[in-house]
Amino acid sequence: MIDWGAGTYELTAAQLAPAAERVVGAARITPGERVLDVACGTGNAALLAAFGGARVTGVDRAERLLGVAAGRAHAAGVEVEWIAGDALALPAEDDAFDATLSVFGVIFAPAEPAAAELVRVTAPGGRIVLATWTGEGAIAAGSGVLRRAMAELSADGVASADAAFVVRDWGDPRHLEALFAPAGGVVTVERYGHPFEAASPEALAEEWMDRHPMWLAARGSLGPERYAALREPLIDALREGNEDPDAFRATSVALIAHVQLP
Ligand SMILES: C[S@@+](CC[C@H](N)C(=O)[O-])C[C@H]1O[C@@H](n2cnc3c(N)ncnc32)[C@H](O)[C@@H]1O
Repeated sequence: MIDWGAGTYELTAAQLAPAAERVVGAARITPGERVLDVACGTGNAALLAAFGGARVTGVDRAERLLGVAAGRAHAAGVEVEWIAGDALALPAEDDAFDATLSVFGVIFAPAEPAAAELVRVTAPGGRIVLATWTGEGAIAAGSGVLRRAMAELSADGVASADAAFVVRDWGDPRHLEALFAPAGGVVTVERYGHPFEAASPEALAEEWMDRHPMWLAARGSLGPERYAALREPLIDALREGNEDPDAFRATSVALIAHVQLP
């Protein structure tokens, strides 16, 4: 299991902030509404919803990140309830929220049971809004280097659900429709290109391998030599999709999925 509190997830959270804006915007939250941010990390979406006057709860498995989120809320002068918990067993009553959000968070949990939990805690007539990755773009290609290495380690040749983005389940609009169909959810999906920037492919590879929780989790499993051997394939994958010859820029295709519950 990835310890998302290890390393410096804050660097990635800053890069993902525009996606939180899209998710909160798509949820059309009004003041006083009850909002849950699932797998909230350092609280990007939860804080935006709180700035808009919502009553917000943020849930994440990583307690260190919840501490960072609480510090941000305190500094900004907004109140958010931060709870350590799992997306597969959300610490909330049935129908507790008007809007349930997750920005590249719940995608690390197995889709069917996690979707059922999102539905359970969202009130009738409420909405669920998610940001997910489609797997298109150089960032996904770079993450694929890690996923393949982890898959080679496992007995069945498949990386564990949270060893890499669970793109197959959450990044496909038809699969999203199927996931929420049992609850009568009407799914609307918007694709958008999320830009990632760095000084160079090498600099981003170094940041990931030295500081990104997903990569640090793999270092323990792979051992130092196999881990170090991933550096060149990772840089190659990033270079191949680099859109900026003088630095690094790559566009990852993301989905903003809006699920309207009956
Ligand atoms: C890529 S980060 C996204 C964080 C945040 N939503 C953001 O926009 O920056 C993934 C987050 O999912 C959390 N996470 C992964 N699996 C989880 C699970 N089963 N239950 C709760 N949180 C989980 C991690 O702790 C991490 O904070």
